[in-house]
Amino acid sequence: MNRKITGVYFSPTGGTKKTVEVIAKAIDGNVVMEDLTKLAQRLEPLSFDESDYVVVGVPVYAGRIPLEMEKYFNAMKGNDTPAVCVVVYGNRDYDDALLELTELLEKNGFRVHAGGAFIGEHSYTNLVGGGRPDQEDVEVAKDFGRTAWEKFKKRNDVSNKWKPLQVKGKHPYKERMPSAPMAPITTDDCVFCGLCAEACPMEAVDFEDYYSVDATRCIRCCACIKICPQDAKRFEHPMVEKITESLIANCSNIRKDPELFF
Ligand SMILES: Cc1cc2nc3c(=O)[nH]c(=O)nc-3n(C[C@H](O)[C@H](O)[C@H](O)COP(=O)(O)O)c2cc1C
Repeated sequence: MNRKITGVYFSPTGGTKKTVEVIAKAIDGNVVMEDLTKLAQRLEPLSFDESDYVVVGVPVYAGRIPLEMEKYFNAMKGNDTPAVCVVVYGNRDYDDALLELTELLEKNGFRVHAGGAFIGEHSYTNLVGGGRPDQEDVEVAKDFGRTAWEKFKKRNDVSNKWKPLQVKGKHPYKERMPSAPMAPITTDDCVFCGLCAEACPMEAVDFEDYYSVDATRCIRCCACIKICPQDAKRFEHPMVEKITESLIANCSNIRKDPELFF
């Protein structure tokens, strides 16, 4: 192995992290993991060259990649760097997210030769995709990593005769719907442990006053809600409640399987 393998991910509630880690470690146990979940880690964009090999993963938000990561990936540069794209979604659909991630990385100097859409527990409710990625997903992810790597090694040259990877998704991408700023409420069960402020990828939870969450910064990733040991944070908003009800009604009884593209 003479390539440096790097796993790059944004993962507020951990599903993408687990998936990317399994894929990257199936290629090489000495993988370097770049966790872009915290705001401070996204201030300096990463860059890679042709001797690198990267596995890049993000969650699916409303059928797209998170807006925050679209901005970040426009600054993260490759130089004919071979890449594997991964999106993780909450058992509804990944719509155009894998296509968007693939095209964005291609545009910024990466040569994407494999892509996968995997399933994670839905950020809004553990009644949808609960416990995923589970052992079955882990086995598929390992196999995906090994197959991507084997197929890559069979190519003679990364930059010549390059044919972009074909993945599922449509143009134009699903429209990003603007919505009113909102933030989780904090109940009196809060014990001021501060885990919510540490977990927030946007630094929206005030480090001095955990009750105060800046709705203009909140991306509704639910990291603060899921990490709270007291269940003291939740969204009390009709829109989130409606989406959650619809997810439970339509997406809790079917098990989606990972989809892989080479
Ligand atoms: C704002 C938001 C929008 C989401 N949109 C979708 C979606 O369109 N389709 C889907 O299946 N899951 C959707 N999800 C669920 C996440 O993609 C899923 O929970 C994923 O596993 C989260 O990744 P993480 O654990 O790495 O944070 C959404 C979650 C959030 C917070």
